[in-house]
Amino acid sequence: MNLARKTMNAPALAAVYEHAWRPTLFYLASGRTTGTDRREAVDRLRLSGPMKVLDLACGPGNFTEYLSTYLTRGGFVTGLDYSPAMLAKAATDNASPRVGYVRGDARTLPFADGTFDAVCCFGALYLIPDPLTATREMIRVLKPGGRIAISTSYRENNLFGSASSMAASLSGLRLFDRDTFPKLFVRAGLTEVDQRVHRFMQYVDATKPL
Ligand SMILES: C[S@@+](CC[C@H](N)C(=O)[O-])C[C@H]1O[C@@H](n2cnc3c(N)ncnc32)[C@H](O)[C@@H]1O
Repeated sequence: MNLARKTMNAPALAAVYEHAWRPTLFYLASGRTTGTDRREAVDRLRLSGPMKVLDLACGPGNFTEYLSTYLTRGGFVTGLDYSPAMLAKAATDNASPRVGYVRGDARTLPFADGTFDAVCCFGALYLIPDPLTATREMIRVLKPGGRIAISTSYRENNLFGSASSMAASLSGLRLFDRDTFPKLFVRAGLTEVDQRVHRFMQYVDATKPL
C-alpha cells in the first residue's frame, strides 16, 4: 500500500480531515472553499426531490450528509469508501435518516446497473489504483438521464506538468491531464460534458442519455 492510501486509512487523518485537512489542502490546490465545492456539487448533480445518490469515496461523509439535505422524503445518499477509519467518522459526524455508509472498493461497486439518479466522486480518483475502471463503474451504476460529477487533480501538458506528475507519483498520487475524463465520458456516450479547471484541480460533469 502506498503512502497516500496508508494516510487515508489512518484514524488520525479521519479525525482532522473534514474541518482542517480538506479545507486547507483543497483551498491551496484549487483556490476554492469547501462551501463553494459543495454548492456547486448540488447544482451540477441537479439534486432535488426523492433522488437516489451515490457519493463515491465519501471519506468522513463531508459531502454525503450535505447533499442529502437537498433531497425530499424518499431521497437517499449512499456514501461508499474503503477506509474503516473514514467510515467510522462518517457514522458519528455525518449521520442522517437520508444517508447510509457502505464499505467497498470503487473499482467493483456492489450495485446493479442504473441504481442511482446521480453519482459523484470528489477528491479521490487520484488515490484510487485504477481510476478509469472506477469512473466506468460510476457510469454503469448511473440511471439513464442521471448526472455524474467528479473533481480530481489536474496537470498542465508541459514540462512543469510532467515534473509535478513524477513528484506526486512518489507518494502514490496521480495527476490527470485535461483530456482523460472528458474523453472517457464522451466515449461512454455521455452528453452535456463540461469541464472547469481551477489551479491543480479539475471538475467534470455530464449526463447519461435516456
Ligand atoms: C481525500 S478523501 C475524499 C473525501 C471526500 N469525497 C471529499 O471530497 O472531501 C479520499 C477518499 O477516497 C477513499 N478511497 C481511496 N481509494 C478508494 C477505493 N479504491 N475505493 C473506495 N474508496 C477509496 C479514501 O479512503 C478516502 O476516504
